[in-house]
Amino acid sequence: MLLSPAQAAEPVYEPLRDAAERQGVTLGFALTPGHLNQPGYREIAEREFDLVVAENAMKWDATEPSQGSFSWGQADQVVDFAAAQDADLYGHTLVWHSQLPGWAESISDPARLRDAMYDHIDAVAGRYADDVDSWDVVNEMWEGDGSRRQSVFQRVLGDGYIADALTRARQAAPDADLCLNDYSTDGINAKSTAMYNLVADLLADGVPIDCVGFQSHLIVGQVPSSYQQNLQRFADLGVDVRITELDIRMNVPASQNDLTRQAQDYRTVVEACLAVDRCTGVTVWGIDDGHSWVPDVFPGEGAALPWDAQYQAKPAYSAIAEALGAQVEGDPDPDPTDPGDPGDPGDAACEVTWTNAGWDTGYTGTVVLTNTGDAAWSSWTLTADLPAGQTLTNGWSADWSQSGATLTARNAAWNGSVPAGGSVQIGYNATHGGSSAVPTQYTINGADCA
Ligand code: XIL
Repeated sequence: MLLSPAQAAEPVYEPLRDAAERQGVTLGFALTPGHLNQPGYREIAEREFDLVVAENAMKWDATEPSQGSFSWGQADQVVDFAAAQDADLYGHTLVWHSQLPGWAESISDPARLRDAMYDHIDAVAGRYADDVDSWDVVNEMWEGDGSRRQSVFQRVLGDGYIADALTRARQAAPDADLCLNDYSTDGINAKSTAMYNLVADLLADGVPIDCVGFQSHLIVGQVPSSYQQNLQRFADLGVDVRITELDIRMNVPASQNDLTRQAQDYRTVVEACLAVDRCTGVTVWGIDDGHSWVPDVFPGEGAALPWDAQYQAKPAYSAIAEALGAQVEGDPDPDPTDPGDPGDPGDAACEVTWTNAGWDTGYTGTVVLTNTGDAAWSSWTLTADLPAGQTLTNGWSADWSQSGATLTARNAAWNGSVPAGGSVQIGYNATHGGSSAVPTQYTINGADCA
C-alpha cells in the first residue's frame, strides 16, 4: 500500500538547530523572504535552522541590476531575518556566471571587467561585512571534466580571476570566511579533484581561502560512495567544508519507496558531515517541496526537500533529526543534574562486553550494552576511546560516528528502550593500522562503565 506522507506522520523532534548545536555544526536553509508570509513556511524557518543563506537575494542580478546602482531590499530582509533568529548568515554569491546581469556579461575589456568585479565585491561584501559569516566568493567555476568553465570572468580575465576575487573579498569583508562552491563535486571525480588542486594551489600561494562548499543537489539513491572521503580530503588541506545546497530529487509523483530511500540519503549526508571534523554543517536548499527550484529545472522531478508542499514533515526530516541525535519532543530529556532521571550518570549503571574479530587490516566489533541499574533507559549513547589507528567504516543497529579517537553509537529508533537488566547488541566494522585491540574506556549516557 502507498501511504501519503500525511498518513505516515513523522514524530516531532526538538528544534533541529538545538541538536545541530550539540553536534558542533549548524543547520541552514536557503531563504526567499517573500515566502515568510506563509505561516507554515515561517514556522519551520524560525524553529529549525540556525543558519540562513539567501536563495537569490544576494546574487549579482538582485543586488546590482544595472552598473553602479544597487538594490538591497531583499538582501536586507535576509540579513534581518538571520539576526532576529540569532542565526549565522551565509553569503551567496559574489562572482558567478549565472544570474549575472547582461551589462556585466557583455564586458569584453579586461580592465573594465576587473573594475566591475571589484566594485561589486566592495559594495556587496562591504555592506554586509559585519553580518555575513562566510561568503561563496566564486560559484560554479568548473566544467564536469575539471576544466575551467568558460564564464565571462574566465574568458576575459583568465585563470587568475578566482585568486583576485578572493583577495578583494578579504579586503572588503575581513572577518568573513571565504569559500568556493560548486555542484557535482560531492564525490571524488575529475571536477572535485580540479577544485582540490585549485584550493591546494591557492593555499600554497597565500591567497585567502577558508572553506569549500559542496552544493549536493543529489538524486535519490545516488549519494556518491566517496562522499565522506571527499569532504575529508579537503578538510585535510586545512579548509572548512560545508554541504551548502542540499536537496535530493526523485521522479514525481513520489513513491513511498523513494521517500524512504531519500530519508536514508539525507541521513548519509548529515552523518558524513558529522564524521568530518572540519565540516561546519549542512544547508538545505529551501524548506518545502512547494517552493523548491527542482521542478522548474528538472522536469518530472521534485519532492527533493524534507517537508512536503503542505509543510508536513517527510521521512527525510526524521532522518536528519536522528542523524543529529535530536530528541523526540515530549520524551523525558535526560538531565544529568537530576538524580532521579534515568539519564543521570549516577544511576545509569552499565556493563559493556566488547569483542573484536580481526584480520590483517580491519576487524568487526560486537558490543553488548547491559543496563545493570534499576531504571529503564529510554535512549542510550555509547562513547569509547578507540585505540590508535582504528577508523570506523560502518556499523549497524545504532547510529555510528567517529570524531578523532572517540567512537559514538546512538540507539536506533527501535532499540532505544532497554529495561533494567536488559541488553542490546550492536556492531561495526573498522580498519586498523596494526592493532584490533578493544577500547578500555567507554561510557553509556555519560556514565563510566569500563
Ligand atoms: C537557484 C534558485 O534556487 C532558484 O530560485 C533560481 O531561479 C536559480 O538559482 N546552484 C546555486 C544556486 O548555486 O544559487 C541555485 O539556486 C541552484 C543551483
